[in-house]
Amino acid sequence: MKVLVIGGGGREHALAWQLARSPRVQMVYVAPGNGGTARSKRMRNVPYASNEALAGFARSEGVAFTVVGPEAPLASGVVDVFRAAGLRIFGPTRSAAQLESSKDYAKSFMQRHGIPTAGYRTFTDATAARAYVAERGAPIVIKADGLAAGKGVVVAQTAGEANAAIDAMLLDNRLGSSGARVVIEDFLDGEEASFIVMSDGRHALALATSQDHKRLLDGDQGPNTGGMGAYSPAPVVTPTLHAKVMREIIMPTIQGMAADGIPYSGFLYAGLMIGKDGEPRTLEFNCRLGDPETQPIMMRLKSDLAQLIEAAIDARLDRAEAQWDRRTALGVVVAAHGYPDAPRRGDLITRLPADTDDCVTFHAGTALDDARLTVTGGRVLCVTALGDSVRAAQKLAYHAVEQVEFSGAQFRRDIGYRALRKHD
Ligand code: AMP
Ligand code: GLY
Repeated sequence: MKVLVIGGGGREHALAWQLARSPRVQMVYVAPGNGGTARSKRMRNVPYASNEALAGFARSEGVAFTVVGPEAPLASGVVDVFRAAGLRIFGPTRSAAQLESSKDYAKSFMQRHGIPTAGYRTFTDATAARAYVAERGAPIVIKADGLAAGKGVVVAQTAGEANAAIDAMLLDNRLGSSGARVVIEDFLDGEEASFIVMSDGRHALALATSQDHKRLLDGDQGPNTGGMGAYSPAPVVTPTLHAKVMREIIMPTIQGMAADGIPYSGFLYAGLMIGKDGEPRTLEFNCRLGDPETQPIMMRLKSDLAQLIEAAIDARLDRAEAQWDRRTALGVVVAAHGYPDAPRRGDLITRLPADTDDCVTFHAGTALDDARLTVTGGRVLCVTALGDSVRAAQKLAYHAVEQVEFSGAQFRRDIGYRALRKHD
């Protein structure tokens, strides 16, 4: 069968890579894809002009099912368009995707359904927002209500920083309509983990656990990014914690959405803060897989991804099971010069490590023109390796990263350090 993956990042390359391994999949179309998917066997890039045009393509090519990677197509209603055309697609509808596209929606949903999260209030008026900050004190967290490509959250250490963020969003319109409402949230301390499941609207199948590194520089310094590396499993998620997250966060969310008449089908990513008390609290929901978490997760998946996605589309995830490689997978992101503020485009990629069974280079911001690979954006590659320990996976991944050559390449040298502290 032919399948379609929507998106063009490292996450989508990893999804396409797994789907292409399925014995039943003859072709994976990727819209719009990247330089890596352009030159992979059994993958072909196709244009993504509009949801309607892509649905037309899926119909005329007889695509068996479609998987959506990023949040923007989901928030624009790609699932609604495909379903209306009678096409099989895995992802939340536009209204279900509000769990990510509106922080206010997500917070009030969690409060209504008793899902553990930080206390909050929502404001459109800057004076009232500043008064709330004065009352609660710092540290405190200011979040734009809408999608802001990772720029919508300010963890303010002082009331001054909090007020500056409020003014930038509510008075100066710095984030446009996404920042016309702000959620002000209590600061939570602890360790973060990504908890990702597949949901079919009623049941949930947990994927392997993972943890990413959001800051640009070693030792979690520098600006926030989409993620500079990730590994799986995340030792912070113990079996007891895993059960607790499923019981107190994931299942109440899926049941709550169904009870609200907006059944949630798709990947669901809960960003968690694990407190010093061992209690998990929800920082945010994403209605998609994480990037770069997906790359190590897909490296470890031993089951047929196409079968799992079909089980989800058919609402029989309760009978599905996912098998995972027992080893650790660890992915190091190689980013463009100037990332995240002003990534440089056009640098020529002159050398890449060869893929092996245990080490794969997933592409993100790359393009293939006339057999030349060039840099097109922020995160360029995610070099992902499997090893018997965190240290072994790290060693193999970094050995491969050393073979990457393009001008201005930057990467962290400490991916996996939190897991190393716990293990090894
Ligand atoms: P979000 O997009 O909501 O996950 O926020 C981005 C990042 O901001 C998270 O990964 C956390 O590092 C941090 N963050 C968000 N909310 C809080 C909070 N309530 N307390 C502490 N840190 C937070
Ligand atoms: N790596 C974090 C995210 O995908 O949101």
